[in-house]
Amino acid sequence: MNNWKKILLIGCVVLLAACTKSVLITGDYLMIPAQDGGKMSKLEILSVGENILGEPQYVEIAQDRVDYYIPIDVTEYKGQSLDICLTGVDKNNKFYKRFAQSDVRVTERDERYRPRYHFAPDFGWTNDPNGMVYYDGEYHLAYQANPYGIGHYNMHWGNAVSTDLMHWEDLPPIIAPDSLGAIFSGSAIVDDENTAGFGKDAIVAMYTSAGRLQRQSIAYSLDRGRTYTKYEGNPVITDLSRRDFRDPKLSRFGDKWIVAIAAGDVIAFYASKDLKNWEKLSEFGKGIGSHAAVWECPDLLKFEYEGKEKWVLLVSINPGNPNGGSITQYFIGSFDGKEFKADPLPYPLWVDLGADNYAGVTFAGKEDRHIFMGWMSNWYYSGATPTKRFRNCMTLPRDLSLKSNGRHLILASNPSPEVYASMKQVRSFDDTKVGLGFSIPQILEENHGAYSIAFTIQPDTKGKLAVVLSNTLGEKMVYHFDFSKNELSLDRSESGLVDFEPRFASKPIVTHIVERAEYKVEMFVDRQSIEMFVGEGDVSFTNSMFPSEYYDKFEITADGCNPILSEITINEIN
Ligand code: FRU
Repeated sequence: MNNWKKILLIGCVVLLAACTKSVLITGDYLMIPAQDGGKMSKLEILSVGENILGEPQYVEIAQDRVDYYIPIDVTEYKGQSLDICLTGVDKNNKFYKRFAQSDVRVTERDERYRPRYHFAPDFGWTNDPNGMVYYDGEYHLAYQANPYGIGHYNMHWGNAVSTDLMHWEDLPPIIAPDSLGAIFSGSAIVDDENTAGFGKDAIVAMYTSAGRLQRQSIAYSLDRGRTYTKYEGNPVITDLSRRDFRDPKLSRFGDKWIVAIAAGDVIAFYASKDLKNWEKLSEFGKGIGSHAAVWECPDLLKFEYEGKEKWVLLVSINPGNPNGGSITQYFIGSFDGKEFKADPLPYPLWVDLGADNYAGVTFAGKEDRHIFMGWMSNWYYSGATPTKRFRNCMTLPRDLSLKSNGRHLILASNPSPEVYASMKQVRSFDDTKVGLGFSIPQILEENHGAYSIAFTIQPDTKGKLAVVLSNTLGEKMVYHFDFSKNELSLDRSESGLVDFEPRFASKPIVTHIVERAEYKVEMFVDRQSIEMFVGEGDVSFTNSMFPSEYYDKFEITADGCNPILSEITINEIN
């Protein structure tokens, strides 16, 4: 049974909350014992009769064992007693009563699959990146968050901040569910002209209030994105004709605000002068691109290409990935402040044909760059992956640009300059021909599962090349370049833990490469993922993995060709 069904069941049975225990607060965090897949129970923590969590929150309460503790910040209540109330618990069960207190939010934070240079929440679940905005030296990355568990429920906006896009500080959540519903995806901008009247330079966020209906609401921050106040006039955009109406992405066009919203399987555009009153402009998408499912998480971007204005519209779709599950498509065309029109191109076009790059959008507030980050997972299995105290993480930041593939324009994704700024070359190898094989038996002396490998391939004939990363247990990620078909594929069926969901490794993941005389290849390895970039932005190929031991061996073998390998380096990223 999925989490939402369990929650519904609790709602229907209407179990009365038992205030199980009164606890004298001595630590900074009250730790609630939880079990992955445990009994879904409604939690309230009362201080003088008032729930300190705002709305009741669902927790997978421990029943047979304690898998992890849910940390609740109770610093304000030190010296006071709090009543913990849970619905539907068996009073005789000893596990759910194992409340603890701690001065540390997450113990054993550095678990096996916690990425070292990608953002993942300190605790809890994440999916889409939200509210991405740059303001006064800081990047703000809000994110779809469950601060009370590692499954997709209790949706809040979590909040992380960074000055360099690579090192993130995970701060307390900023937007919590209310009577309008859960807080689904959305975006943020800096209102530097105070058009909304919340204050000059207010960061204004628009998100989906996901209740019985999906409607768009706004909230603002006057303290550099640390706390938000919801607008009392919410919701600000409603469309009663749609069940799926979500993920507003704000941008500026001349003297007005534009918002792109996923509306069923099209994108609706609205305009406003003050972020509060909105007028519908147009819809885009009928009969073009992939419509395998409803559309989600749009982003509208303006580029300059050879002196001309070009617009790109990103649209996520789940399922719809030719490799299975979640994926993001894009359209290239024009936008006149009212309507988006797509150029005639061979749609669908994909941002990244890997299995694990979804719901990605770009940071507002950086006029000269389009910095993209996606969610590095796939709805097919994101709820089952074998992490413990957190689940899922984001991709590396990537700078998007337009380039030609020889036939038409494509959207190129390159690792952002900030990725290279935090990278240090630690090994390099002489240029060589692949011949009978090229191998690095031990990638790093001290291997924490996080590094990058880069090399350039110059194929001589149209043969095949296998690129393999493996560990001493024989687990491996096997990539195949097939230059005769201009194809790159990944077999992750023996990559480590794969059977947590049958669709994780059931077939090879295939992408296309653009025919070039040489290919620069970069593989960013970070414990639970490899992001591969081929041909300076031509191809990005993002895939997750869960090896039982970090990969430490790298091999390339050729079949029917003898390409030159050059510029081979191993890099640490800190
Ligand atoms: C995309 C998505 C969004 C929605 C959010 C809910 O992954 O389904 O459309 O707002 O996740 O968490």
